[in-house]
Amino acid sequence: MTKFSKFLCSAAALSVMPVLAQAACDGGERVIKFSHVTAVAGHPKGEMVAALAERFDEQFDGTMCMEVFANSTLFSDDKVLEALMLGDVQLAAPDVGKFDAYTQKLQVFNLPFLFDSTEAVQAFTETEQGEEILMSMEGSGIIGLGWIFNGMRQFSANRPLVEPRDAAGLKFRATTSEVTEAMIAALDATPQALAFAEVYGALQTGVVDGQENTWSNIYTGKFYEVQDGVTETNHQFLTYLIVTSPEFLDSLGDDHEAFTTLVDEVSAEYNARANAANEAARQAIIDNGGTVRELTDEQRAAWVEVMKPVWKRFEADIGTEVIEVASGGAD
Ligand code: SIN
Repeated sequence: MTKFSKFLCSAAALSVMPVLAQAACDGGERVIKFSHVTAVAGHPKGEMVAALAERFDEQFDGTMCMEVFANSTLFSDDKVLEALMLGDVQLAAPDVGKFDAYTQKLQVFNLPFLFDSTEAVQAFTETEQGEEILMSMEGSGIIGLGWIFNGMRQFSANRPLVEPRDAAGLKFRATTSEVTEAMIAALDATPQALAFAEVYGALQTGVVDGQENTWSNIYTGKFYEVQDGVTETNHQFLTYLIVTSPEFLDSLGDDHEAFTTLVDEVSAEYNARANAANEAARQAIIDNGGTVRELTDEQRAAWVEVMKPVWKRFEADIGTEVIEVASGGAD
């Protein structure tokens, strides 16, 4: 299949997604707020959350209504967990790298070159160790409801990146994940923690030289417009944890089970589309004049050799058994 025909298939797959226009809450119902930081159209998380809101409104018609605040319009990921605990929002789905202040367990998802596909992440989330992580922050008032999958992260910079040494001396935007900071430092580069909403401006003005994210984030955030090119490093898989508070779940009473079932159904449906969304975003970057650099096996092996040793630093906090299971070892 040629790249172009692959794109047509991806675009066709995406075009069957429902139009996600959410009716506003009319004031009579209990309003449930879901805050997140990404775009909606063409984005695995944005589309999943929009679909969840649409179906939630249908299912709980007249009693509850979900308002979605996308694109960091209500809270950044740094603030949303506090807001959740204060009851200012009821639902959020941050990147797993944003939970370091509450648990180190989620860092397993960020270990470079551990997961190489949606299927591998899904298999881990279905293990006992993966399921235990959902409740690992209960003591802090955060309950994990399920997972949203995005895709593999790629590095980009204001100069070509082919060998890991090309990144040396550059400043890269990082999330607040300690693993990501260590991974960037392993390249002899400097990590600069910035909220997702600040990335485009920081790349444009030269506050940072580069970033690393998924095709769908690089495309919908337009990062490729202000970078020399994107290098297909496929170094980490971006997973989101859908979170709520115990107070919210308790307040649902008899609707509790119907609500969690709905979250499971909609996330499963949209997770099955995440690969297509990222393939379409990769192609859209090329079609819009962006440069995508593929690596030879030898070049990619050099990135693995430099970044994979950061696992050692996090082994004790994450747990060797969890890492083994996540790597496809013992269950
Ligand atoms: C997101 O996809 O929610 C943001 C990820 C990031 O901050 O890099």
